[in-house]
Amino acid sequence: MKAAVVDTTTGDFVTQKHRIDTPRPATPDALADVARQLTEHFEWEGQVGVGFPGVIQRGIVRTAANLDDSWIDVDGDALFTEASQCDVHMINDADAAGLAEVRFGVGEGVSGVVIMLTLGTGIGSAVFFDGELVPNTEFGHLLMDGVIAEDRASSRAKEDQGLSWEEWGIALRDFLLEMDKLFWPELFMLGGGISKQFEHFAPFLEGVRAPIKPAERFNRAGIVGAALCRQPISPRD
Ligand code: BGC
Repeated sequence: MKAAVVDTTTGDFVTQKHRIDTPRPATPDALADVARQLTEHFEWEGQVGVGFPGVIQRGIVRTAANLDDSWIDVDGDALFTEASQCDVHMINDADAAGLAEVRFGVGEGVSGVVIMLTLGTGIGSAVFFDGELVPNTEFGHLLMDGVIAEDRASSRAKEDQGLSWEEWGIALRDFLLEMDKLFWPELFMLGGGISKQFEHFAPFLEGVRAPIKPAERFNRAGIVGAALCRQPISPRD
């Protein structure tokens, strides 16, 4: 779990990023305690935005595919607010990363439908129309030949299955082709640590109609976007 103080007008970090290993099992109470430690580290008493790897509706966690099932239906906003004594609002992690890229990164100024995909332990997705977020899309759970997309095209899938750039790039291309066919976006933005190595897999993505750009802010986007979700003009879900 990582945090930084963010200037939401520029999308820049005001402090260094601070990181604490995610406790295992990643139960609500264990993560809430890390949230407390992170806010204490910065001596922070203001608003906090948290990017969470699951569906979040009005602060309630609805799914937690890669965490712990005990998260389901937990009021994440209330739990983290209580633990940290700061005013906390949760947002899906990919929605957060997408917000940062649309506001300050490769998606800035792009009108129409823009799709962010984060490639990490899972695949997160965020959809924007004219810069406005449609929250909680879960395209990483799309079934492709009976297999969940994130089990084939996440960076975890590449690592666990020992896939070459070509093998993994083709799996990602198939996923992008499916998304392209269903949504006809103006742009795909790719995030997650692996997007830093875009040149290794870009050659295998040919045939996808929409332009594909790696995120500019890489792993910073999640933190910046979580902070942006605290702005009044941003969606609350
Ligand atoms: C979750 C999403 C999340 C993504 C990336 C998926 O397994 O269902 O909500 O955005 O992983 O963390």
